[in-house]
Amino acid sequence: MSAPQPVSAPGKALLIGEYAVLEGATAVVTAVDVRAIAHTSDAVSTSPVTRAARSHIAGYLAARGHASPGSAPLIDTSAFTIGPRKIGLGSSAAVAAAVVGFHLQEAGFDLHDPEIRADALALARSAHAEAQGGGSGADVAAAVLGGTLCYTDGRASAIDSPTWLHTAFIDAGAPAVTSHFVALVRAAAAAAPAAYNDAIARLRAASQRFIAALAEPSGAAFAALAAAVTLHNDGLRALQALSGAPLLTPTIDLILHEAHALGIAAKPSGAGGGDLVVAFAPAGADLDRLADRLRRRHGVEALNGLSIAAAGLRAESRPPRCSRLAGLFRLDIAGRRAAVAEATALPLADFNALDPGAFALEQAEHMIENVIGTLALPLAVATNFRINGLDLLIPMCVEEASVVAAASNAAKMVRAGGGFIASADPPWMIAQIQLCRRAEGRPIDDAVRAILAEEPALRRLADSAHPRLVARGGGARELEVRPLAADMLAVHVVVDCRDAMGANLLNTIAELLAPRLAALTGWTAGLRILSNLADRRRAHVRCRIPPEALASDGWRGAEVVDGIVSASRFAELDPYRAATHNKGIMNGVDAVILATGNDWRAMEAGAHAYAAESGRYRPLATWSRGEGGWLEGVIALPAAVGLVGGATHVHPAARLALQILGPRSAVELGQAAAAVGLASNLAALRALATEGIQRGHMSLHARTLAVGAGASGDEIDLLVHRLIASHEIKHERALALLQEIRAEASL
Ligand code: MEV
Repeated sequence: MSAPQPVSAPGKALLIGEYAVLEGATAVVTAVDVRAIAHTSDAVSTSPVTRAARSHIAGYLAARGHASPGSAPLIDTSAFTIGPRKIGLGSSAAVAAAVVGFHLQEAGFDLHDPEIRADALALARSAHAEAQGGGSGADVAAAVLGGTLCYTDGRASAIDSPTWLHTAFIDAGAPAVTSHFVALVRAAAAAAPAAYNDAIARLRAASQRFIAALAEPSGAAFAALAAAVTLHNDGLRALQALSGAPLLTPTIDLILHEAHALGIAAKPSGAGGGDLVVAFAPAGADLDRLADRLRRRHGVEALNGLSIAAAGLRAESRPPRCSRLAGLFRLDIAGRRAAVAEATALPLADFNALDPGAFALEQAEHMIENVIGTLALPLAVATNFRINGLDLLIPMCVEEASVVAAASNAAKMVRAGGGFIASADPPWMIAQIQLCRRAEGRPIDDAVRAILAEEPALRRLADSAHPRLVARGGGARELEVRPLAADMLAVHVVVDCRDAMGANLLNTIAELLAPRLAALTGWTAGLRILSNLADRRRAHVRCRIPPEALASDGWRGAEVVDGIVSASRFAELDPYRAATHNKGIMNGVDAVILATGNDWRAMEAGAHAYAAESGRYRPLATWSRGEGGWLEGVIALPAAVGLVGGATHVHPAARLALQILGPRSAVELGQAAAAVGLASNLAALRALATEGIQRGHMSLHARTLAVGAGASGDEIDLLVHRLIASHEIKHERALALLQEIRAEASL
């Protein structure tokens, strides 16, 4: 019997109407594109929500003469987590919806039929309320119906989110226990009804004004929307004072404050008390500015890649991708291609792009000058990676043995702690224009002032060079003037390059602005080129690993944690060690960059300049012992990478590599490269802090030699074994031992 079809449901975020919705006011809720996926019916345990959903669907099916639902599905909710923590995007409502949808689909109902959808909503709502003890039901409505909804007393109607409004979510750090806050607020309502009603009246009015502003066709309504958000926050503050529930934590207050300073409206999304803040702005660039400021000033992260108004309940063509391809290394190349094709849903025929000769000489001829051939390198896939709750297979191109195996092995350990948590700066790069003083030019302070006074016009001029970039949401964001000496200035134009690496865009902008800057200052324009110290475009990745996942032959997990922490400290104290530490990181990073057709020299230049940015060369990744003795690692590095332009599209293998990885944006590609760098570093430090690097290297090196000596099939493992036992891992020895093995076999 074929496996039942997977069904998924999205998460949700409340845009307005919290608390007031419990008193019959209208809330606006949007479906967020992180999904709970119900698939294969071999779950070993089920949650209360799943059990409640199954019991409701059983009644529904029986009443219509259908057989009882099959066994319970497995539910994947990993997209709702940041490491070990669930973010407040309504995972339990999505689970209720997905389970109901799964069994309806299994029984042959059409999930897109409006009547079936209405039934699914009623079933999921009752199940969710039963398992969770109440709630407005707005989250379940979003999970079943999708889109953006006005929600009043159990009734939902779809609305369009206006094109002039941009939305982002910020992680306020702490999980909120909604039911606890609601209980405190209810107790306050009973104790001080007049004050409570006053607070609810403000929240209700805020919701009405917000909805009225959303209906306006023009961005002029943003001011009214922002005023509604302010009124909402006032109402929340009143509820907080009444109930004692910490609805606006210090971190939320800080986010609201920074947002306000940038003309952005922001409020807690959901019950408050930590978790999520939603920010609204008339332009996406404003939200990037807020994210940049929050990270640099306060270490607070925006959640990138969350899109709103997502599709509701839907059948999926496949179960969620799994990067745990156990035993991939044992297969032959055709077997591995088939396994990767199956895991990624890419057509197997596309893997012909990796065959010898697929990158034609004629293509190479058009890429660089004086071509006489091409140089092939191995392309592999690293397994076990989970980044922000999603499983990814990572293409890596590298000539060094053990890099891919080590990264895959480390990713498995990180997986035991919930996977990698990644975020990124906006894709902002720097174009530099050098200005040199001439005798008749303005004095330096005057020159700086003259440039800054023209910033808006200069940004407009920069944007005029790339209307298509502006149409895609990119463009010039900031202008900085850096005096380098009494007679030299560097002008930086910070440009959002979206999914391009940006070198050409930036160089054009620098060349366009140079004459204007020279005219403004009377100075001479010198160099006009991007900076590879892409420190406005960093990828940030962290992970936590339970000590037991790090234990190895003869080494307890806690000892390994200590060893890795000490190795990290060594790199922090000593640039000689930091250089090797970072080399190990770049083993992983460069392999991804090369595989995806990106500029690995740019990546290298950026990484090492960033490592030395403090004036001392430092490690890009560091490790510490955290709560419960867990190992905690963190990496940040400039990620000047693109999904468009350059070799990413010309080279057939690079194109396929990008499809295997499947990043939705250049930002996600940078995050993946940084995660692989962190994994490579973990693998190296774990080996170095325990048995040393050579043992693992040697067995992989022996395998390379065995294949190089001509061994095939079963001969390979046998020859590897004998080479290691001989303690002489050399080509000549491999040849001799292979002859020995063949002689024995012919006896
Ligand atoms: C070898 O390619 C990389 C290492 O030297 C990295 C390190 O020492 O951390 C093993």
